[in-house]
This record gives sequence, structure tokens and C-alpha cells, in this order.
Amino acid sequence: MTSVVNRTGVDSRTSVGSPTGVDSRSGVDSRTASAVEAAERHTAHNYHPLPVVIAEAEGAWVTDVDGRRYLDCLAGYSALNFGHRHPGLVAAAREQLDRVTLTSRAFLHDQFGPFCADLARLTGKELVLPMNSGAEAVETAIKVSRKWGYKVKGVPDGRATIVVADGNFHGRTTTIVSFSTDPEARADYGPYTPGFVVVPYGDLDALAAAVDETTVAVLLEPIQGEAGVLVPPRGYLSGVRRLCTERGVLFVADEIQSGLGRTGATFACDDESVVPDMYILGKALGGGIVPVSAVAANADVLGVLRPGEHGSTFGGNPLACAVARAVIALLETGEPQARAREVGAHLHRRLNALVGHGLTAVRGRGLWAGIDIDPALMTGREASERLMARGVLAKDTHGSTLRLAPPLVVTEADIDLAVDALAAVLEDSAAQ
Ligand SMILES: Cc1ncc(COP(=O)(O)O)c(C=O)c1O
Repeated sequence: MTSVVNRTGVDSRTSVGSPTGVDSRSGVDSRTASAVEAAERHTAHNYHPLPVVIAEAEGAWVTDVDGRRYLDCLAGYSALNFGHRHPGLVAAAREQLDRVTLTSRAFLHDQFGPFCADLARLTGKELVLPMNSGAEAVETAIKVSRKWGYKVKGVPDGRATIVVADGNFHGRTTTIVSFSTDPEARADYGPYTPGFVVVPYGDLDALAAAVDETTVAVLLEPIQGEAGVLVPPRGYLSGVRRLCTERGVLFVADEIQSGLGRTGATFACDDESVVPDMYILGKALGGGIVPVSAVAANADVLGVLRPGEHGSTFGGNPLACAVARAVIALLETGEPQARAREVGAHLHRRLNALVGHGLTAVRGRGLWAGIDIDPALMTGREASERLMARGVLAKDTHGSTLRLAPPLVVTEADIDLAVDALAAVLEDSAAQ
């Protein structure tokens, strides 16, 4: 059944306050309804949010304006890996707020050098270039790869190509959507930036055939998040690494969603002991508090940039650097990664038991799962609405695929609650 969405973005079958609605635990939802309406009236409709209006959050849980609690199984698309308002991260932000928050890169500040050193250590790279959003960091990686291609590899001017994968998601800028294969992201936004070659994800032979003397980089997500948490075949990432080394091409890993603990390792590439030439990081680097992104690479790559060629007013600001340093310190304890492995194993055990009972497939690693719901039962959107009614926030990706990515601070009991809610949603719809 196709969901019918009214002007306020609320699905009319599960409209707020209806008996089948958002939450039978509470009859009070006037604040939610008016807040949804107010938001929608003055917003470009570039998102279709679930009709939940969050007022407070802590750890893995959020509370809406009507006092209902939900388990957050999206975690800001992995920007909240360490949970909402992690005390150590909030303390780092507070301390910095009382000192200095913004200088621009025209001047240095006392958090900048230490942040770059900390991130260089975490990534094992020599240099770091901070930006803000993920898309900006991807743009940075593209510019650096092209310049490296011209100045180091010797590609003729204007001929550089970058090989990317089918089903990719690297952000929303005009250049990035130029090589998206998702018609929703791409159509109507041309003319498109040239210089990208798209190959099937996970297919090493296709990649090898696409690389030629104009190729400066292979840009990939080690696990494709937006595509539905697609894990490539084992050996793919190490094969990409080998191919890039042999052909003199940069391997650029977009770890914006897969990195910083989500999969049970600091980077998803670690699973195959692969070290890319450039890491692209974002989301969780800002601790769920401030937007922080960065690229990290050795001096022979990132060293190609000269003053004035690239930058950002807010990139590497004191507040961002202070929070990101606290994030890096947290990751260096290894605890978030260990939790993602342990609680993630529980998540996957429980989800796999639902395959054949409303789920057709479960993929992923650590506390990250893409689940395919039998399309005969419901769409991913319908599933996320029904989960919301049971106090679990999750988001569909495409069709009948849902992505589960709770903060890494969730407990096994939280996971049981989420998977029990999913099982009940599947059972209800099978019974209908
Ligand atoms: C792998 C990947 N790259 C890039 C981005 C873009 O990040 P941002 O939304 O911060 O621009 C995303 C966002 O979901 C992502 O998942």
C-alpha cells in the first residue's frame, strides 16, 4: 500500500493522535501536530521527515515535545555514534565555548595544531585538512586527487578521471550528484561535472577495466550506507588497494558514514587491513555537536595544495577542533569500537532470526544493518512509521530497505526492544 502524505508531511493513515497513530501510549500530541505544521509551512520540502518532533535527547534515547520517548536507531546517519550529548564531548564543547569559538583560518588558534596532530595519529597519515560537512570533504578529496594527478602523476591538463561505484552516496553538491546513479539525487541538476567513470560496486574486474592513464583516483565507500548498507565481497577492498598501487592511482575511502567506530573498527577499511591513500571523514567526527569533516593523507598527496587554492571560513574552527579532539581521544580508548562489535553481534543475531519471517535479507557489520523487508508486506517508509508508533526511530533508504544504525552506547536490552518492535510490525502486517 502506498503511503499518502498530506501537506504537513504526516502519513494520513498514521496521523498524529489517531487511534492507529503515532503513539497509543499517549493521547496528547497537540504539540507534535503544531510543531510539524510550523516546520513544514516554511521549509523547502527536500526531506520527508517522520512526524516526530524531538525536544531532548540523552545517550541512545530521545524525547519528543509531547514527552514520548524513542530509541534512536538512526543516530543522525552515524553522526551520533557516541550517543546524544556524550558527557565528555559536551564538556569539551562547553570548555571551548568559554575560551574562543572562531578565528577563521587567517589566524591560527591553540586547538588547531593539536587537532591535526591527533587526527593524523588516528588515521596514520601525515597531513589533515579540516572542513565542515561531508560533501565538502568529498569535494576536497576530488580537488586534491585532480591536482595530484596533474602535478605528480602527469595526467594531461583537464583530462583527469575518477572512478566511482554504482549506488554511491557521497553528498549533494552539483559535482557529487554528477556521478550519482540515483535518479532522485541527480535528475534536473545538470549540466553535470565531467571526469567520473561509474563501475559496478564490488566488481574488481570492472574496476580494473575502467582504470586508464587518465585515472587519478578510485573513490569508494568501504561499505555503501545509503545504498542499503551494502558490504562488498571479501577481498574487494584489498583488491582495490592492490590495483591502485599497481596502476599509480589514489585509493580514496569515503569513511564518512562507515568510519569512527560504526563497524566495530576505527575504519571500515581496517576489516581487510587496507590503508587507503586518503580517508574522508565527517559525521561522528563532530561528536553529534558540531559539523566537522576532514581529509587525511600523506604529504605526497595533500601536500599539493598551496595557499588560496582551497578552504572554508568555518573549517577547523576552535570549537570544532576541541570537540573532534575529544572524539579522537574517545576512539583511541577502543571502547566505542568494542561496543559496536559486541552489541552489533547481538543485533545481527537477532535480525538474522527474522529472515524468512518478514525480512528477506540482513547485511552489515558492527552496529550497522541494512534490512530488506518483504516488499509484499510494506515499504521501508511504512515500516519506519510503524516502528515509530512503537517507540523506535529508524529510516528507510530505498524501497523496502531499512537502515539500523543506533548510537554505539545502546545496550543489548535496547537492541532487544528495537528488534522486538520490528518483529511485531512484521507480524502485524503478515496477519493483515
Ligand atoms: C558516505 C557519505 N559520504 C558523504 C556524505 C555527505 O555528508 P554531509 O551530509 O555531511 O554532506 C554522506 C552523508 O550521508 C555519506 O553517507
